Amino acid sequence: MTVPAIETRGLVKRFGNTAAVDGIDLQIAQGGIYGVLGPNGAGKTTAIRMLATLLRPDAGEARVLGHDVFTEPKAIREKIALTGQFASLDEDLTGIENLMLLGRLLGYNSREAKVRGMTLLDAFGLTDAAGRQVKKYSGGMRRRLDIAGSLIVTPQLMFLDEPTTGIDPRSRNQVWDIIRTLVEGGTTILLTTQHLEEADQLADRIAVIDTGKVIAEGTPGQLKAQVGTGALKVRVAEATRREEAAEILGRTLLAEVIRESDPAALTVRLEDESRAASALIALQDSAIAVETFALGQPSLDEVFLALTGHKTVHEAPDGETADAQEEAA
Ligand SMILES: Nc1ncnc2c1ncn2[C@@H]1O[C@H](COP(=O)(O)OP(=O)(O)O)[C@@H](O)[C@H]1O
Ligand SMILES: [Mg+2]
Repeated sequence: MTVPAIETRGLVKRFGNTAAVDGIDLQIAQGGIYGVLGPNGAGKTTAIRMLATLLRPDAGEARVLGHDVFTEPKAIREKIALTGQFASLDEDLTGIENLMLLGRLLGYNSREAKVRGMTLLDAFGLTDAAGRQVKKYSGGMRRRLDIAGSLIVTPQLMFLDEPTTGIDPRSRNQVWDIIRTLVEGGTTILLTTQHLEEADQLADRIAVIDTGKVIAEGTPGQLKAQVGTGALKVRVAEATRREEAAEILGRTLLAEVIRESDPAALTVRLEDESRAASALIALQDSAIAVETFALGQPSLDEVFLALTGHKTVHEAPDGETADAQEEAA
């Protein structure tokens, strides 16, 4: 029996009056990818920082690869790697210089550090950029270099904090491939994301978190089953016929039809995606012109709505509120 990768009980971290992590229980086995899915501000980074022993919990228990975060941080740090939102690359150094610097810190001599660095750059498709300063890298290249840097020594457990946030779809697919390769090499991965699709593509199990609490846990299939497998979004050409379309969709799909704020748009949550075609045919039979339709997975917002009964609370942007603006005007 191997020890679990991560075990927490009642883990808490407060910042002032905010409980950023508010009593989280997790059981994560070694091997594979565990996804932590939640909106901005849910507490994902705070949770990871406690597990990586960068932040001391205020309450609860946590063991990482069998070691206690309070009493054995050194043993944990030797076995894990951390990358993502708070990892730092030196912008003025080149790609290879960054990796060599990390290699030297981890005990390689400079020749070994260079060999290891070049091998990793090659594996991540960055050989051509080896001699270029990191500040001239694209977002996707930076993310790959960041992950490469955390692999100088192959870690047993790797924390990837939103590794694809803010990068283009092509780089995202490359990062996904890298993650899958790491898992094949035996590394356990804890990945945070704001996107259901990403968790669905990569993770074996997912914890959904909201305001510091785990609100659902299970395989991607189990979670999606709670929400319905997908959503059919339809926009009719004439808004005046939307009611008629809603009635037809409801009748053919036997599902709740949501009237969007756009007066021509409807969304139907589907239990069975294969029935979408028959619903569109029914609209056509009634001569209702459909401007656009899309069959998609539920968005994270829809998952939240289904799981919690409330919408995700997006943090207010910094600066003035509407009131303050009015006063200033
Ligand atoms: N160092 C900090 N000081 C004060 N509040 C913080 C700090 N770090 C995070 N928070 C707050 O804790 C909550 C969770 O943040 P975070 O863990 O960064 O969420 P996520 O990574 O899911 O976006 C947020 O409300 C955030 O504003
Ligand atoms: Mg974060």
